Amino acid sequence: MQRKSKLPEPRRLQDYAPPDWLVPAASFRFELDAVRTLVHARLEVVCNRDDIRALVLDGEELELVSLRIDGVAQPLPNVGADGLTLAIAGRHAVVETVVAIRPSANTQLMGLYASGGNLCTQCEAEGFRRISFFPDRPDVLTRYAVRLEADLRAFPVLLGNGNPGDAGLLGGGRHFAEWDDPFPKPCYLFAVVAGQLEALRDSFVTASGRVVGLAIWVAAADIDRSGHAMLSLKQAMAWDERVYGREYDLDVFNIVAVNDFNFGAMENKGLNIFNARYVLADADTATDHDFDSIAAVVAHEYFHNWSGNRVTCRDWFQLALKEGFTVYRDQQFSADLGSPAVRRIESVRSLRLHQFPEDNGPMAHPVRPESYIEISNFYTATVYNKGAELIRMMAGQLGAERYRRACDGYFAGHDGTAATVEDFLAAMAAEGLDAALFARWYSQSGTPTLTATVEHFAGDGCALLHVAQASRRHGTLQEPLPIPLSVALFAADGRRMAARDDLLLTDAENSFLFEGIDAPPILSMNRGFVAPVHVQPAPARDALAMLAAHEDDRFARYDALQQLMHSALAEGMAAGTALGHADVVAAVRSALAGWQDDPAFVAEAVLLPAESLVGDRQHKVDPPAIHAAREALRLSIRAGLADELWAVFHACRTHGGDLSARAKGLRRLKGIALGLLMAGDAADATSAAFGMFSAADCMTDRMAALSALSHSAAPERDAALRVFFERYRGFPEVLDKWFAVQAASTRGDTLETVQMLADHPLFDARNPNRLRALALGFAGNQARFHDRKGAGYAWLAAQVLAADRINPQSAARLVGPLARWRRLMPPWGGLMSDRLLAIGRSPGLSKDVREVVESSI
Ligand code: BES
Ligand code: ZN
Repeated sequence: MQRKSKLPEPRRLQDYAPPDWLVPAASFRFELDAVRTLVHARLEVVCNRDDIRALVLDGEELELVSLRIDGVAQPLPNVGADGLTLAIAGRHAVVETVVAIRPSANTQLMGLYASGGNLCTQCEAEGFRRISFFPDRPDVLTRYAVRLEADLRAFPVLLGNGNPGDAGLLGGGRHFAEWDDPFPKPCYLFAVVAGQLEALRDSFVTASGRVVGLAIWVAAADIDRSGHAMLSLKQAMAWDERVYGREYDLDVFNIVAVNDFNFGAMENKGLNIFNARYVLADADTATDHDFDSIAAVVAHEYFHNWSGNRVTCRDWFQLALKEGFTVYRDQQFSADLGSPAVRRIESVRSLRLHQFPEDNGPMAHPVRPESYIEISNFYTATVYNKGAELIRMMAGQLGAERYRRACDGYFAGHDGTAATVEDFLAAMAAEGLDAALFARWYSQSGTPTLTATVEHFAGDGCALLHVAQASRRHGTLQEPLPIPLSVALFAADGRRMAARDDLLLTDAENSFLFEGIDAPPILSMNRGFVAPVHVQPAPARDALAMLAAHEDDRFARYDALQQLMHSALAEGMAAGTALGHADVVAAVRSALAGWQDDPAFVAEAVLLPAESLVGDRQHKVDPPAIHAAREALRLSIRAGLADELWAVFHACRTHGGDLSARAKGLRRLKGIALGLLMAGDAADATSAAFGMFSAADCMTDRMAALSALSHSAAPERDAALRVFFERYRGFPEVLDKWFAVQAASTRGDTLETVQMLADHPLFDARNPNRLRALALGFAGNQARFHDRKGAGYAWLAAQVLAADRINPQSAARLVGPLARWRRLMPPWGGLMSDRLLAIGRSPGLSKDVREVVESSI
């Protein structure tokens, strides 16, 4: 029987109305207990309209125990599915509720829940309604006073937002702690933590001399692995003062690491809560990439203290106002810490891997969406990463000084309020940006395509660059966008004849004149990737090879080699056989030759494009053809460059504890060289990989070797996996790597392995990290997920349904890979859509999963 879809009506941006009631102040008392916690709330409510309407308080899975209005006990009203509706006589009232909630039964990990014996909260986006009756929307800003009471032994540490107040013992083995947050905030920034935690402590003196107590709270055994997060925090605090003039504003800043967490981390005011994988690191358990991610996430959440907390969002349609902006800020921070070119390569790769396909798929939406059903489905690559690209373009247009003044104006003008994208654009406009034009980027979805042609006038020594832009949505052309351009013209011999980094497209077609062009020009478009666009046509292969050798913009040099590889792969697939790869091999050879100067850059440059990126360029994705073509290219590179690759492999030696950019770059290059040498499961590379694994003095080398071995049929593979498991079974975030690396193996038996791993005693679908490692690890495995019988899809669909009963947000994220079905060739596309339909027919689906399924079928 076909179940009728029960999706609620979408929320729409155009329907925004200010809240009927405000809550300027509130106090809470928590009687904490893992099984049953009592939450006593006292809200001062004030009518926010001329005429008085009922007060509607959101609430979900709350057991109402008592209700008072202005001190008078009320008969318990019926609680609707979405909350409580109260008639209030005057324009002011004090509403007091007591509710009971069940943290240990909360598997959604939204609201107050238990993780490893501790209690913690996650409220963004709409989790506070699972803690107390409250107007759960970001434009209701409240000053919070919180008192926590709990058993002293079970929960010796009690943390809240803001500054600490009174604390002490109560009778019966219980104690209390009070927290006061002087800054009004929306309830999504509310947090409490209770548990057995130890602190790594430090302090930071702000530019104006305020001393801030810093603490990172972790399980006692993890204290030694918290130093990098602390260092990152202090670097982030200093950076935000120096670059944005933003100082911290409370007496304390606390970070807590928890093992069960739906996201990466959360910026609760003064009390950030982190997925432990973004806190814990030492050379033995974390890769260089993990170290860098920790720095970026710590910085990101810290930066929200201004971009998100002091100035928050009026409604969830404005999410990019805080997230896109803050991602841009953390990208700038990471670029300043490391190599800007390599960071840019990484950000663009991630944009192309995740945001471009999203923008070209069923869930495509503008950076500021117009409607949503479940907001947690809109924490997307588009909001985050394209959102960051928009800020980057505006900053580039204004230049550093005016951009800084514009940001100062934005923070000063909206401090303590809930703002909109228009407010941000107006601040940029005050420094000269054409904000009305720029606003289009926020409301149009889809990735624009630029078509560029160069006309050379040999006699006049000049050239005309014509650029046309087109951005289509459902086949119709959208308005032209303001697109900054950085281009250069090269001669065939590698000589740069002209370069401009200050061009701006504003029309459907623009032309630009270049002088001093004395030879037929080769165009290098979108240098530095200053605009998030596609460019066509691709230059000819000899032009790409020239640019890969001579471009002085390092991003463009990297991208030329990538495009050369793409074009070799496309030709190979079209011909159905491996064609000559001589030009790619030569280009990789010359890139490798410079490895001593910049190993990190060379590593990225010689890395073959991911299979999914190759697929994104196909009319319909043919996974086995892509895999075969990429393997053939890998074999050609190995055959042509074995000596060079071995030389690099042996020469890249580091000390595992050396976290300098150079050492990291050498390790990255060594791992990538090994990956190329492993082509065809070569025996010499297999034993080198096993040697590297066994001798590794850091997780980066160990993991690079393990991941190279993971695809192999050789016995060393199982041996290495066994050793790794025994060594790290007690480290959850390391064990996730063990699950993920097996799920990503290109071996023919990977599906069976994944099925077995799902029954492994240490697999737990309730833990989002573990579920993700296995399920998304496998779904990202282009070669094995897309098997011809659809068995990979069936396995994923079963995981979705099982996860949905536990944690809808976690489950909804697993649907994404199936939602791309239209992009796949037969039989894969059909098999995927069959699975989506089957998920859609299952009874009792969450709205999270239902929204993703229904918008893709
Ligand atoms: N505010 C988010 C956390 C969040 C994400 C809440 C999704 C609700 C739904 C936080 O600032 C964030 O963006 N975290 C990222 C990591 C960040 C470095 C991009 C995350 O959790 O993945
Ligand atoms: Zn964020």
